[in-house]
Formats: sequence, C-alpha cells, structure tokens
Amino acid sequence: MATVQLDHIRVDYDGKTVVHDVSFSVDDGEFAVLVGPSGSGKSTILRTITGYAPIDAGTVRIDGKDVTYAPVRERDIAMVFQNLALYPHLTVRQNWEFPLKAAKLPKAEQAKRVDDVARMLEMTPYLHRYPHQLSGGQKQRVAMGRALVRNPQLFLLDEPLGALDAKLRVEARSAFKTLQRDLGITTIYVTHDQIEAQALGTKIIVLNDGIVQQVGTPETIYDNPSNQFVAGLFGSPPMNLFDVDVSRDQGVLIAHRAEFSIALPPHLDIEGLGSGASTGAVLGVRPESLRLQARPGEDSIAATVFVVEPTGHQLIVDVKIQDLIVRVRADRGEEWIATLTPDEIVHVTFDRRRLFLFHRSSGDRVA
Ligand SMILES: Nc1ncnc2c1ncn2[C@@H]1O[C@H](COP(=O)(O)OP(=O)(O)OP(=O)(O)O)[C@@H](O)[C@H]1O
Ligand SMILES: [Mg+2]
Repeated sequence: MATVQLDHIRVDYDGKTVVHDVSFSVDDGEFAVLVGPSGSGKSTILRTITGYAPIDAGTVRIDGKDVTYAPVRERDIAMVFQNLALYPHLTVRQNWEFPLKAAKLPKAEQAKRVDDVARMLEMTPYLHRYPHQLSGGQKQRVAMGRALVRNPQLFLLDEPLGALDAKLRVEARSAFKTLQRDLGITTIYVTHDQIEAQALGTKIIVLNDGIVQQVGTPETIYDNPSNQFVAGLFGSPPMNLFDVDVSRDQGVLIAHRAEFSIALPPHLDIEGLGSGASTGAVLGVRPESLRLQARPGEDSIAATVFVVEPTGHQLIVDVKIQDLIVRVRADRGEEWIATLTPDEIVHVTFDRRRLFLFHRSSGDRVA
C-alpha cells in the first residue's frame, strides 16, 4: 500500500495557471475524494500523480519517494479514467488480461487474477462478453476491474460513476466503498458530486479554480466549512446564503437586511467592528436549521409558502419572507406540515446556534 503527498504543486497550460500551490497528503489505505466544479483542476491533479501532466512547481511523493519527474511506468498506480475507454473488440476477460500481458505476467497468474477480480466484482458470468453486450453498471465494473487486476498500491479514479443512472450510481458507490475498505488500497477519487464525496471519502479535498479550499473529514467539511464556497457546495438543498449588514449594538452583533434582523450568537464575532459601525457580510443557514411553526413565536418571522417539494419522508419548503426565498427542510410527521399548500402563512425561526457568517469580500468564515 502507499501514501501520497503533494507539496505546492503548480500546473500551467498555455501560460495560464490551472493548479495553484496545491498541497495535501493521503495516508496509507485512506479514501480521499477530490471534489469541485467542472474545470477546477481535479483531473489535472490526478494526472500529476500518475505522471501524465506537466508539473511546473512542487513535488509529488509516493511512499515518501520523490516521483515528481519519474516516468509513468515506474509508479505502481492504477487509474480509471473519466471516460471508461474499454477495448470494444475484446471480451471482459481479454480487457482484464491486457495490462497483465503487457506486464509479462505468467499465464496461470493472469487467469487467477482475472478470476479473483471477477468474483469480487460479481462479473464471473460475464467474462466472455464484449463491452457492447453489457449494461452501463457492468461496463463500469469492467473499467474498475481492469485497474484492480494489476493489484496496484494506489488507485486513482476520475469520475468512474459518471455514466450511470442515479440508482446504479448509489449501488456502485456502496459496492465500491466496501471493496476499497476490504482491499485497503490507498484511493484518490474524483467527482463533482458533493453527495458522492460525502458518501465515499474519509478525507475530502475541496477545489475551486485550481485552489484547495479545504481539506477535512466529511463531518468537518459540513459542520465547519472554511469559507462560503465550501459551505455552499455541500448539502442538498444547499445552505441559504443572504447578504446582510452586520453592526454592533450594545456589544451584540446584529445581522440586518430589509426582510429581517437577527441577533447573532456570541460565537460569531467580527473583531474590530466598533459600536455604531457596520460591515457587509453573508449569513448562512442550512435548510435543516430553520423551523416552521403554524403560529408566531419568539423571534419568528412571518412568511408565505411558495413551493412544497416532497423528498420521501421530509419536505423541502420554499417560503417567501417578502420577496426573499428561504429553503426549509421540514418533517412530514407533523400533520399541518404534511398538508402545507402555497400561499399559506407560516412562521420561520432560525436555529441561532447553527448560523454561519462569512466576510462579504473574501468569503472567509467568521468564527
Ligand atoms: N491539456 C490541456 N491543455 C490546456 N488546458 C488544459 C488541458 N487540460 C486541462 N486544461 C484546462 O485546465 C483546467 C482544469 O481542467 P481539469 O480537466 O483538470 O478540470 P476538472 O476539474 O477535471 O473538470 P471536469 O469536472 O469538467 O472534468 C480547465 O480550465 C481546462 O480547460
Ligand atoms: Mg475532469
């Protein structure tokens, strides 16, 4: 097995920097997920580890050894690419034997590895089929298997589930998570899907515009996002984010906007904001940190129901405070909530312990 360490990696394409000063490490057996929007540099970073991308600065270490400029074949890495790229004219067995033949493995060993992986991926009945005779999920397992037969010390996957429909994705995801845990192969997995990142990763590396935004466990990324970008990326539906003016009144910070004013809890403090002064900020509140009540209560804000969207046992309710749309996650268990209809009046309260505040200009979180 292996550890991976990237230190201050920079990649330029055509004079433009697409990966900026990226540093992170992946422990032995760890499942790391690189997540970020399209074009944020995820595939490029994976390619710096395999040796397929030109590195303009920084070092890549595998097991402590500097491989920044080592040729691809000297790195014991298996990669599943963004497009599955199976050989259409070869059967599943032949697709899997291909890398083993190239490595000049004895015939008997080739057969054994293929049979073992087929059993692991439940593909034994399909070994004689060609890719066009397989479902999307089976093709994805062929791509995975072709990497696994090599018994790699490091497994890199670039959006391997991208081509699958929602249900198959969830199945493939949990099968893959179990497989990774059983084999204990150090894995770096790329996705733009925050739900997939949360479901799979023991470590999540969040990227935007080629810059690492945060590295942490799924829980840390969700509960303690370091900035507005990370806060807005994770969670479905995502966090509500409102521009507010923050001012200090008798020591207490108040966030105002036309539709509401709310006293902020003491753990949110903008240092150096004097009494009477005010500053622009962004207030964040997750849909599950808002409550709906039928009747007004302490600190509640009146709103009208705009859209009700059932999601299984819960509802996503978009309410309007004047013209401001606020998304609330509510339990269907309460009868009056289960029967909410548009234009009804409701009362919203914010869970003040679960508010986030970000500096308007930098997006950094106020802690
Ligand atoms: N070979 C290349 N030559 C020039 N520019 C490139 C090259 N490869 C990638 N880029 C650019 O680098 C940036 C990062 O690309 P990359 O493929 O790493 O993004 P990504 O996060 O994997 O995106 P996606 O989710 O769409 O796959 C993009 O702006 C892309 O256009
Ligand atoms: Mg990519």
